[in-house]
Amino acid sequence: MVHKYVASAPGKVNLHLGVGEARADGYHELVSVFHAVDRRERVTLIASDTMTDGPIVRSMSTTFFVDTPDEDIDGPGNLAWRAVDAVATRAGVALPEVRIEVDKHVFVAGGMAGGSADAAAALVAANALVADYGTPLDDDTLLALAASLGADVPFSLMGGTALGTGRGDELVAMLSRGRLHWVFVNPKVGIPTGKAFSLLDDMRHNNATLVPHLNTQALSQALTTGDATRVAAAMHNDLEGPALAMRPQLARLLDVAADAGLRAMVSGSGPTVAVLCDSLEHAQWVADHLAEHFDGYEVFVAEGPDQGAVVENVF
Ligand code: C5P
Repeated sequence: MVHKYVASAPGKVNLHLGVGEARADGYHELVSVFHAVDRRERVTLIASDTMTDGPIVRSMSTTFFVDTPDEDIDGPGNLAWRAVDAVATRAGVALPEVRIEVDKHVFVAGGMAGGSADAAAALVAANALVADYGTPLDDDTLLALAASLGADVPFSLMGGTALGTGRGDELVAMLSRGRLHWVFVNPKVGIPTGKAFSLLDDMRHNNATLVPHLNTQALSQALTTGDATRVAAAMHNDLEGPALAMRPQLARLLDVAADAGLRAMVSGSGPTVAVLCDSLEHAQWVADHLAEHFDGYEVFVAEGPDQGAVVENVF
C-alpha cells in the first residue's frame, strides 16, 4: 500500500522590508511586513515499505511550473529534504523511508521565498507522516525547526499578513481587510539573498542618506482600510536599491509596471517585481501588458493574503 502525504505553502511578497543593523550571526535586524499569496508550492512525501530510525529521505525530484534553474536543486542540501529529516529526527520513532516530490510554482531565487515555502510544506507533510506512527510534533517545535532552516520559513508556515522582526522570524499577525491583487514578473536573473544584504551594507557605508526604514505605521493603517491605493503608497523595500544596482535591467521593468499598476516594487531581495493592482481584472490586464512588453519574462497573477502551510491530502 502506497501512502502519500501532500502539503502546500504560499509564496510571499514583502509589503515593507526595512533592513537594520548587521548582526554578529551574519543576519540583519529586519522590520518586515510579509504577505502570503495564493501562488503555492506543493510537496508530496511518498512512503516506502522500509522502516528506519534515522534520516528518512531517500530521494527527491522537482517538477518546474516556472523556469528551470541551471543547477540541479534536488539533493540533501535542499530545504525540503532537510525539513523532512529534521522532523523525523526530532520525532524519534521508526518511520518509513520516503521520496519527496516538489511541484514548484514560485520562482527559484526570486525573492518570493519559494524555497522557504517548500521547507514549510515539507515540515507539515512530515508531521502528518509522524502522526501515523507516533505523536506529532507540537506547533512550537515545528516553528523552532522552521526558524532553524531559514529566516523566511516561519512565515511560510504561518501565512496571512504578518509583521516580522529579529531576523524576520519573530512574527505577529497583522490586521488587514479585503484582498490584494498582484502581478509577479520574473526577469530571469537570479539574485542571491546574501549578496543583496551585503551590497546594502556597502552602499550605506558610502552614502549616509541611505538610512533603514523601520516604521510600518502608515502601512498597517492602510492594511486595515483595505484600500489598495493606500497600501500601494505605503509599500517600501530597503533592498530595492541593491537589487537595481546588481540588475540594472530592473529599472525599465519597474517603470513600465508602475505605469500599468498602482505600484511596482522589487519583492524581497529580488529580482521578482511585484505589481499591486486594484482588482483581478486590472491585474489580468497588467499581466498581459507586461508579457507583451517583456518578451520571455515569466508573469503570473496572484492574490493575498493566503493561508500558511497546510496538509492537503493523505492517501
Ligand atoms: O535565512 P536564509 O538562508 O533565507 O538567508 C539567506 C541570507 O540572507 C543569509 O545568509 C544572510 O546573508 C541574508 N539575510 C540577512 N538578514 C536576514 C535574513 C537574511 O542578512 N534577516
